[in-house]
Amino acid sequence: MAVLHHKHHHSIFVLLSLLLLLADARLNLDCTDARAFSAIQKDLGIGGKRSSSPTPPPCSTPGVFCERRLSPNSTYVLRITRLVIKSRRLTGFLSPAIGRLSELKELSLTNNQLVDQVPAQIVKCKKLEILDLANNQLSGEIPSELSSLVRLRVLDLSNNELSGNLSFLRHFPNLERLSLANNLFTGKVPKSIRSFRNLQFFDFSGNFLEGPVPVISRGESSRPQYPKRYILKENTTGTKSNNDSRANKNPALAPAPAPSSSAPHKHKKSRRKLAGWLLGFLAGSVAGSLSGFVFSLFFKIVLAALRGGGRDVGPAIFSPLIKKAEDFSFPGKR
Ligand SMILES: *[C@@H]1O[C@H](CO)[C@@H](O)[C@H](O)[C@H]1NC(C)=O
Ligand SMILES: *[C@@H]1O[C@H](CO)[C@@H](O)[C@H](O)[C@H]1NC(C)=O
Ligand SMILES: *[C@@H]1O[C@H](CO)[C@@H](O)[C@H](O)[C@H]1NC(C)=O
Ligand SMILES: *[C@@H]1O[C@H](CO)[C@@H](O)[C@H](O)[C@H]1NC(C)=O
Repeated sequence: MAVLHHKHHHSIFVLLSLLLLLADARLNLDCTDARAFSAIQKDLGIGGKRSSSPTPPPCSTPGVFCERRLSPNSTYVLRITRLVIKSRRLTGFLSPAIGRLSELKELSLTNNQLVDQVPAQIVKCKKLEILDLANNQLSGEIPSELSSLVRLRVLDLSNNELSGNLSFLRHFPNLERLSLANNLFTGKVPKSIRSFRNLQFFDFSGNFLEGPVPVISRGESSRPQYPKRYILKENTTGTKSNNDSRANKNPALAPAPAPSSSAPHKHKKSRRKLAGWLLGFLAGSVAGSLSGFVFSLFFKIVLAALRGGGRDVGPAIFSPLIKKAEDFSFPGKR
């Protein structure tokens, strides 16, 4: 009987999880996001070659992550919160439509062959925490208002052909990781990086910067004009060495703790975990439910629980399970 009970609880859990997943799947993508994504996708050059095959809905496209949000008219919609499209040989450019994804938290397009500028509209993505465009062929200047993205934790523009001065480095109170290595930046490293209190790693190497270039070095505090844990180790003469740093990409990226990137991974992990559980429980419940007996009992218990007449452990056991399932299904909910 104990085994039977166990199975019932699993079945209930599976049913509820499926219902929750279905409820989420039924939500529509916000129409502004949908239109913006369609432009972004086209300009990046995703799926251009196989135009005959039907394109999946945005939230089912690999690398596109959506979360449930309350829309202005008090209904739930899906919003695009992360675009992570790495190493896909994309040869297009980043559309100005990116600025319309107002819930975007992460934009990672590393290891592609993207060209052209970083559109100024990027500064409208106020919730952006991770901007990783490393290893592309982006050129032009970085919009000087980039500092309005105060939530940025990771800014990696390394290994591109970006130029101009670093005046966009004004105010990044949450920045933990900054790499501008191997670009064509000129001018001085602004003193304002002193105010980046959370900076744990930075790399300015391989540019045409003037004057002393700060190099991270923790635990030493010989030069007070930069934050305690940084000192000026390198004094470049303002030009790159003959050694073209592009030949060996990213040699200067020292190992640094990047706790910043752990948050999205956690989501992925818990989602994977849930999928694993679901699969396991599904397999178990399918095997069990081959006999209609189990199902009839299961429904009886559900009915009993709904009527509030659940005896002994019924409701007490599955209410924490419901809670858990919700947590996993809507990681963005607060
Ligand atoms: C709420 O807005 C969405 C689009 O944002 C629309 O599709 C939906 O019909 C609206 N719902 C109501 C009740 O107005
Ligand atoms: C940096 O570049 C911008 C745009 O090119 C320019 O307006 C500004 O004066 C420059 N700042 C410095 C300190 O050179
Ligand atoms: C650069 O380093 C050399 C020794 O490596 C030193 O003599 C010189 O004063 C330094 N220049 C600056 C501007 O710090
Ligand atoms: C190029 O860099 C390597 C290692 O960083 C160094 O051993 C070599 O001497 C450099 N060559 C030139 C021409 O600077």
